[in-house]
Amino acid sequence: MSTPVDIAPARGKLGVMLVGLGAVSTTTIAGVLAIRKGISKPIGSLTQMGTIRLGKRTEGRSPKISDVVPLTPLDDIVFGGWDLFADDCYAAARTAGVIEPALLDQVRPELEKIKPWPAVFDKHYVKRLDGPNVKKGKNKKDLANQVIADIRKFKSDNNLDRLVMVWCGSTEIFATESPAHQSIEAFEAGLEASDIAIPSSMIYAYAAISEGIPYANAAPNLTADIPALVALAAKTQSPLAGKDLKTGQTLIKTIIAPGLKARLLGVEGWYSTNILGNRDGEVLDDPESFKTKEESKKSVLDYIFQPNLYPDLYKDLCHVVRINYYPPRGDNKEGWDNIDLVGWLGYKMQLKINFLCRDSILAAPIVLDVALFMDLAKRAGMSGIQEWLSFYFKSPVHAPGLYPEHDLFIQLMKLKNTLRYLKGEDLITHLGREYYD
Ligand SMILES: NC(=O)c1ccc[n+]([C@@H]2O[C@H](COP(=O)([O-])OP(=O)(O)OC[C@H]3O[C@@H](n4cnc5c(N)ncnc54)[C@H](O)[C@@H]3O)[C@@H](O)[C@H]2O)c1
Repeated sequence: MSTPVDIAPARGKLGVMLVGLGAVSTTTIAGVLAIRKGISKPIGSLTQMGTIRLGKRTEGRSPKISDVVPLTPLDDIVFGGWDLFADDCYAAARTAGVIEPALLDQVRPELEKIKPWPAVFDKHYVKRLDGPNVKKGKNKKDLANQVIADIRKFKSDNNLDRLVMVWCGSTEIFATESPAHQSIEAFEAGLEASDIAIPSSMIYAYAAISEGIPYANAAPNLTADIPALVALAAKTQSPLAGKDLKTGQTLIKTIIAPGLKARLLGVEGWYSTNILGNRDGEVLDDPESFKTKEESKKSVLDYIFQPNLYPDLYKDLCHVVRINYYPPRGDNKEGWDNIDLVGWLGYKMQLKINFLCRDSILAAPIVLDVALFMDLAKRAGMSGIQEWLSFYFKSPVHAPGLYPEHDLFIQLMKLKNTLRYLKGEDLITHLGREYYD
């Protein structure tokens, strides 16, 4: 045991601000409302259903995570958000078509009350989208100030104690770091000059972080993963997490690949393709948005397989990722993976995975967990990059000079050990010598 970290209690209400009220956001919000009413169970959510072993295996202590660390109860969450479509959350959920109307109707009045604030949006960054509910401003600094005004109003109107922001907006076009991203001063000058290197998502992130609010990114956009916003987060003590929720095909990849590597099976090729018919699929049909997604999806295997350490097994891995926009399936994605394996004496094998998943059903519990853990991080005085939340992301943000950890099981161990550390409990190494000494 060590000294526990001083964590402020989860007193009062938590405002969860979602940028973009599309499929993922509305599935999260409607789900939380249904769970609150006892209509559904929070399946897939570690904060709601997960347990954590404390102490030795012989002690039999495996409480629920929510009984170990002070998390905000679901009843104390208030949702708000922005979108370029003015539909309230009920109408948006009907458009998204993820949750059936019979369930939505049971939480309809609460959903209808959530009306999106006008968005900061520029078609330059998301080519396949356009909508009427958009802010006007003299420059990007003015737009950031308008977002800050929305945040403050949301807080005072609802008498909120704390806030978190999660970007659940569309995937923006591919971007790399530019001079305006290098320091807080350069970024703020870029906002004044409406620098093209500052997409809409960075304007929201800047607004949240400058208010000291935890910011997480559910999409692969560069957004807060730049030196200027990391420096601002250090200054304002804001936790950061991202990028790109690990759901669907990549989730399965980070479950299967560590197993193959653990048994030193070689992989010559991994071909992943899927069909998806929701608005996300439509946006990703644009090659510039797809490139952002592709980069995020492709890096995973390189890091898990470590071809530099295992050249005989993974040096020439051919990894192909395709996403095909196919409207008839809506949010019900179908993914196919073909894995070409190599075993003892070079004998070849194949593994085929056909996953008929529901994208937003996999994403919603993650958005909830990330929001609650980011709020916990803030109350525990942990600011900046929250690498312990890598568990939830395809492209985990990490300190410069480190490689990201993609193995789902290492990520989970890291997350749970962070919770043990916060409570002053012994970290679990799985050494276990003491049971045999
Ligand atoms: N569903 C998943 O499993 C999953 C997994 C990983 C990542 N993501 C990412 O999460 C994001 C949301 O996915 P989705 O399925 O909900 O998509 P969606 O298209 O249903 O919803 C996105 C919403 O964001 C809005 N939006 C876009 N730009 C905005 C802006 N600048 N300001 C405010 N609103 C804006 C759109 O109008 C839309 O309503 C996407 O970037 C997607 O790639 C989703």
